[in-house]
Amino acid sequence: MLEVTNLTKAFGSGSNKLHVLKGVDMNIKQGEMVALMGPSGSGKSTLLNIIGGLLAADGGSISLGQRKYGLKGPSNVVDVRRELVGWIFQDFHLLDNLTAVDNVAMALELSGMPSAQAEEAAEVALEKVGLGDRMHFIPDQLSGGQQQRVAIARAIAGNRPVLLADEPTGNLDIASGKEVMALFKELCHDEINPISILMVTHDPDLASSADRMLLLNDGQTEASDIRSAWGLDDDNGSEEE
Ligand SMILES: Nc1ncnc2c1ncn2[C@@H]1O[C@H](COP(=O)(O)OP(=O)(O)OP(=O)(O)O)[C@@H](O)[C@H]1O
Ligand SMILES: [Mg+2]
Repeated sequence: MLEVTNLTKAFGSGSNKLHVLKGVDMNIKQGEMVALMGPSGSGKSTLLNIIGGLLAADGGSISLGQRKYGLKGPSNVVDVRRELVGWIFQDFHLLDNLTAVDNVAMALELSGMPSAQAEEAAEVALEKVGLGDRMHFIPDQLSGGQQQRVAIARAIAGNRPVLLADEPTGNLDIASGKEVMALFKELCHDEINPISILMVTHDPDLASSADRMLLLNDGQTEASDIRSAWGLDDDNGSEEE
Protein backbone atom coordinates (compact mmCIF):
# COMPACT_ATOMS: atom_id res chain seq x y z
CA MET A 1 0.00 0.00 0.00
CA LEU A 2 2.42 2.68 1.24
CA GLU A 3 6.12 2.26 0.64
CA VAL A 4 8.78 4.77 1.63
CA THR A 5 12.26 4.20 0.21
CA ASN A 6 15.50 5.84 1.28
CA LEU A 7 13.81 9.14 2.07
CA THR A 8 16.09 12.04 2.98
CA LYS A 9 15.34 15.56 4.13
CA ALA A 10 17.50 18.35 5.51
CA PHE A 11 16.62 21.87 6.60
CA GLY A 12 18.84 24.94 6.33
CA SER A 13 22.14 25.21 4.52
CA GLY A 14 25.87 25.37 5.01
CA SER A 15 27.11 24.65 8.50
CA ASN A 16 23.59 25.11 9.81
CA LYS A 17 22.25 22.32 7.69
CA LEU A 18 20.22 19.91 9.74
CA HIS A 19 19.84 16.39 8.35
CA VAL A 20 16.55 15.26 9.76
CA LEU A 21 15.72 12.19 7.67
CA LYS A 22 18.75 10.18 6.60
CA GLY A 23 17.33 7.42 4.48
CA VAL A 24 14.02 6.31 5.92
CA ASP A 25 12.65 2.99 4.70
CA MET A 26 9.26 1.77 5.76
CA ASN A 27 6.10 0.24 4.43
CA ILE A 28 2.56 -0.13 5.60
CA LYS A 29 0.15 -2.73 4.35
CA GLN A 30 -3.51 -2.20 3.72
CA GLY A 31 -5.37 -2.66 6.99
CA GLU A 32 -2.34 -2.03 9.16
CA MET A 33 -2.17 0.40 12.04
CA VAL A 34 1.39 1.52 12.68
CA ALA A 35 2.57 3.69 15.56
CA LEU A 36 5.53 5.98 14.93
CA MET A 37 7.54 6.97 17.95
CA GLY A 38 10.77 8.84 18.52
CA PRO A 39 12.25 11.69 20.52
CA SER A 40 11.04 15.24 20.05
CA GLY A 41 12.73 16.74 17.00
CA SER A 42 13.55 13.35 15.46
CA GLY A 43 11.52 14.14 12.34
CA LYS A 44 8.20 12.36 12.86
CA SER A 45 6.08 15.29 11.68
CA THR A 46 8.50 15.94 8.84
CA LEU A 47 8.08 12.35 7.65
CA LEU A 48 4.29 12.58 7.87
CA ASN A 49 4.30 15.88 6.00
CA ILE A 50 6.27 14.37 3.14
CA ILE A 51 4.05 11.29 2.96
CA GLY A 52 1.00 13.55 3.10
CA GLY A 53 2.18 15.70 0.20
CA LEU A 54 2.71 18.84 2.27
CA LEU A 55 6.48 18.92 1.94
CA ALA A 56 9.02 17.78 -0.65
CA ALA A 57 11.84 15.42 0.33
CA ASP A 58 15.43 15.86 -0.91
CA GLY A 59 15.87 12.26 -1.99
CA GLY A 60 14.17 8.90 -2.07
CA SER A 61 10.64 8.05 -3.04
CA ILE A 62 7.17 7.23 -1.84
CA SER A 63 4.73 4.97 -3.54
CA LEU A 64 1.14 4.87 -2.46
CA GLY A 65 -1.01 2.52 -4.48
CA GLN A 66 -0.14 3.37 -8.07
CA ARG A 67 1.13 6.86 -7.23
CA LYS A 68 4.84 7.67 -6.95
CA TYR A 69 6.01 10.96 -5.47
CA GLY A 70 8.22 12.43 -2.76
CA LEU A 71 10.44 15.02 -4.40
CA LYS A 72 7.75 17.20 -5.90
CA GLY A 73 6.52 20.34 -4.18
CA PRO A 74 3.07 20.46 -2.60
CA SER A 75 1.48 21.99 -5.70
CA ASN A 76 2.35 18.87 -7.70
CA VAL A 77 0.75 16.40 -5.37
CA VAL A 78 -2.73 17.89 -5.02
CA ASP A 79 -4.20 14.52 -5.98
CA VAL A 80 -2.35 12.82 -3.12
CA ARG A 81 -3.91 15.21 -0.62
CA ARG A 82 -7.35 15.02 -2.19
CA GLU A 83 -7.66 11.35 -2.84
CA LEU A 84 -5.05 9.33 -1.05
CA VAL A 85 -4.29 10.59 2.44
CA GLY A 86 -6.48 11.94 5.21
CA TRP A 87 -5.11 13.89 8.17
CA ILE A 88 -5.88 13.86 11.86
CA PHE A 89 -4.27 16.54 14.01
CA GLN A 90 -3.78 16.95 17.71
CA ASP A 91 -6.07 19.98 17.86
CA PHE A 92 -8.86 18.63 15.62
CA HIS A 93 -8.90 21.60 13.16
CA LEU A 94 -12.69 21.83 13.08
CA LEU A 95 -14.59 24.94 12.08
CA ASP A 96 -16.26 26.35 15.21
CA ASN A 97 -19.47 27.55 13.59
CA LEU A 98 -20.26 24.49 11.55
CA THR A 99 -22.11 21.42 12.80
CA ALA A 100 -20.41 18.04 12.77
CA VAL A 101 -22.10 17.05 9.53
CA ASP A 102 -21.21 20.36 7.87
CA ASN A 103 -17.58 20.11 8.98
CA VAL A 104 -17.32 16.72 7.31
CA ALA A 105 -19.40 17.63 4.25
CA MET A 106 -17.43 20.82 3.62
CA ALA A 107 -14.19 18.92 3.25
CA LEU A 108 -15.84 16.72 0.63
CA GLU A 109 -17.31 19.69 -1.22
CA LEU A 110 -13.89 21.30 -1.35
CA SER A 111 -12.60 18.24 -3.14
CA GLY A 112 -15.34 18.61 -5.72
CA MET A 113 -18.25 16.50 -4.51
CA PRO A 114 -21.76 17.91 -5.07
CA SER A 115 -23.42 19.13 -1.82
CA ALA A 116 -26.19 16.57 -1.55
CA GLN A 117 -23.80 13.71 -2.08
CA ALA A 118 -21.29 15.23 0.35
CA GLU A 119 -23.91 15.50 3.06
CA GLU A 120 -24.91 11.89 2.58
CA ALA A 121 -21.29 10.71 2.72
CA ALA A 122 -20.74 12.87 5.83
CA GLU A 123 -23.67 11.21 7.57
CA VAL A 124 -22.37 7.76 6.75
CA ALA A 125 -18.91 8.67 8.09
CA LEU A 126 -20.32 10.14 11.30
CA GLU A 127 -22.41 7.02 11.86
CA LYS A 128 -19.26 4.99 11.41
CA VAL A 129 -17.40 6.86 14.15
CA GLY A 130 -20.36 6.56 16.51
CA LEU A 131 -21.68 10.11 16.25
CA GLY A 132 -24.96 9.39 14.48
CA ASP A 133 -26.81 11.14 17.28
CA ARG A 134 -24.57 14.22 17.34
CA MET A 135 -24.54 15.23 13.68
CA HIS A 136 -26.07 18.63 14.23
CA PHE A 137 -23.94 19.66 17.19
CA ILE A 138 -21.25 22.31 16.78
CA PRO A 139 -17.78 21.57 18.19
CA ASP A 140 -18.41 23.52 21.41
CA GLN A 141 -21.28 21.18 22.20
CA LEU A 142 -19.06 18.11 21.87
CA SER A 143 -16.41 16.64 24.15
CA GLY A 144 -12.77 16.55 23.03
CA GLY A 145 -13.06 12.89 22.17
CA GLN A 146 -16.20 13.52 20.15
CA GLN A 147 -14.56 16.43 18.33
CA GLN A 148 -11.66 14.18 17.41
CA ARG A 149 -14.16 11.62 16.10
CA VAL A 150 -15.67 14.33 13.87
CA ALA A 151 -12.16 14.96 12.54
CA ILE A 152 -11.74 11.22 11.96
CA ALA A 153 -15.08 11.12 10.12
CA ARG A 154 -13.84 13.99 7.97
CA ALA A 155 -10.63 12.10 7.20
CA ILE A 156 -12.36 8.84 6.23
CA ALA A 157 -15.38 10.31 4.43
CA GLY A 158 -13.55 10.63 1.11
CA ASN A 159 -12.58 6.94 1.15
CA ARG A 160 -8.89 7.69 1.31
CA PRO A 161 -6.82 4.57 1.81
CA VAL A 162 -4.30 6.09 4.26
CA LEU A 163 -4.75 8.19 7.38
CA LEU A 164 -1.89 10.15 8.88
CA ALA A 165 -2.38 11.11 12.49
CA ASP A 166 0.10 13.41 14.22
CA GLU A 167 -0.36 12.97 17.97
CA PRO A 168 -4.12 12.47 17.58
CA THR A 169 -4.64 11.89 21.28
CA GLY A 170 -2.35 14.66 22.52
CA ASN A 171 -5.25 16.82 23.64
CA LEU A 172 -7.44 14.05 24.99
CA ASP A 173 -7.82 12.49 28.40
CA ILE A 174 -6.74 8.89 28.80
CA ALA A 175 -10.19 7.36 28.30
CA SER A 176 -10.93 9.38 25.15
CA GLY A 177 -7.46 8.57 23.81
CA LYS A 178 -8.16 4.88 24.22
CA GLU A 179 -11.49 5.27 22.44
CA VAL A 180 -9.77 6.92 19.50
CA MET A 181 -7.28 4.03 19.36
CA ALA A 182 -10.13 1.52 19.42
CA LEU A 183 -11.83 3.39 16.58
CA PHE A 184 -8.58 3.45 14.56
CA LYS A 185 -8.28 -0.27 15.01
CA GLU A 186 -11.83 -0.82 13.86
CA LEU A 187 -11.21 1.25 10.73
CA CYS A 188 -8.02 -0.64 9.91
CA HIS A 189 -9.52 -4.04 10.53
CA ASP A 190 -12.77 -3.34 8.69
CA GLU A 191 -13.61 -6.37 6.58
CA ILE A 192 -15.08 -4.48 3.65
CA ASN A 193 -12.90 -1.42 3.35
CA PRO A 194 -9.79 -1.62 5.55
CA ILE A 195 -7.63 1.50 5.65
CA SER A 196 -4.05 2.00 6.81
CA ILE A 197 -3.10 4.36 9.61
CA LEU A 198 0.29 5.85 10.45
CA MET A 199 0.07 7.49 13.82
CA VAL A 200 2.58 9.49 15.82
CA THR A 201 2.31 9.14 19.55
CA HIS A 202 4.49 9.75 22.58
CA ASP A 203 2.40 7.41 24.67
CA PRO A 204 3.87 3.89 24.79
CA ASP A 205 0.63 2.51 26.14
CA LEU A 206 -1.36 3.79 23.14
CA ALA A 207 1.41 2.79 20.75
CA SER A 208 1.22 -0.76 22.03
CA SER A 209 -2.35 -1.01 20.76
CA ALA A 210 -1.12 -0.59 17.18
CA ASP A 211 -0.35 -3.60 15.00
CA ARG A 212 3.28 -2.56 14.80
CA MET A 213 5.61 0.12 16.09
CA LEU A 214 8.35 2.01 14.31
CA LEU A 215 10.97 4.06 16.05
CA LEU A 216 12.50 7.07 14.30
CA ASN A 217 15.99 7.38 15.60
CA ASP A 218 18.93 9.32 14.22
CA GLY A 219 17.12 9.92 10.94
CA GLN A 220 16.14 6.35 10.26
CA THR A 221 13.26 4.10 11.19
CA GLU A 222 13.71 0.83 12.95
CA ALA A 223 11.16 -1.77 13.88
CA SER A 224 10.52 -1.66 17.53
CA ASP A 225 8.61 -3.30 20.26
CA ILE A 226 7.43 -1.42 23.25
CA ARG A 227 10.13 -2.78 25.54
CA SER A 228 13.16 -1.99 23.43
CA ALA A 229 11.74 1.43 22.51
CA TRP A 230 11.78 2.36 26.15
CA GLY A 231 14.98 0.62 27.10
CA LEU A 232 13.07 -2.02 29.00
CA ASP A 233 14.59 -5.07 27.35
CA ASP A 234 15.84 -7.11 30.22
CA ASP A 235 15.63 -10.37 32.07
CA ASN A 236 11.90 -10.65 32.08
CA GLY A 237 11.56 -13.19 29.29
CA SER A 238 10.51 -12.16 25.84
CA GLU A 239 8.23 -14.81 24.45
CA GLU A 240 5.33 -12.35 24.42
CA GLU A 241 4.94 -8.94 22.79
N1 LIG B 1 10.42 24.10 8.10
C1 LIG B 1 11.49 23.84 8.86
N2 LIG B 1 12.59 24.61 8.78
C2 LIG B 1 13.68 24.35 9.53
N3 LIG B 1 13.75 23.32 10.41
C3 LIG B 1 12.69 22.53 10.54
C4 LIG B 1 11.50 22.75 9.79
N4 LIG B 1 10.61 21.79 10.13
C5 LIG B 1 11.20 21.02 11.05
N5 LIG B 1 12.47 21.46 11.31
C6 LIG B 1 13.41 20.83 12.24
O1 LIG B 1 13.50 19.46 11.93
C7 LIG B 1 13.58 18.67 13.11
C8 LIG B 1 12.47 17.65 13.11
O2 LIG B 1 11.23 18.32 13.32
P1 LIG B 1 9.86 17.54 13.44
O3 LIG B 1 8.81 18.54 13.68
O4 LIG B 1 9.70 16.65 12.26
O5 LIG B 1 10.11 16.64 14.73
P2 LIG B 1 9.09 15.71 15.55
O6 LIG B 1 9.73 14.37 15.65
O7 LIG B 1 7.74 15.80 14.94
O8 LIG B 1 9.11 16.38 16.99
P3 LIG B 1 7.94 16.51 18.09
O9 LIG B 1 7.86 15.16 18.75
O10 LIG B 1 8.43 17.55 19.01
O11 LIG B 1 6.67 16.89 17.38
C9 LIG B 1 13.55 19.65 14.27
O12 LIG B 1 14.86 19.91 14.68
C10 LIG B 1 12.94 20.88 13.67
O13 LIG B 1 13.39 22.04 14.32
MG1 LIG C 1 5.89 16.52 15.58
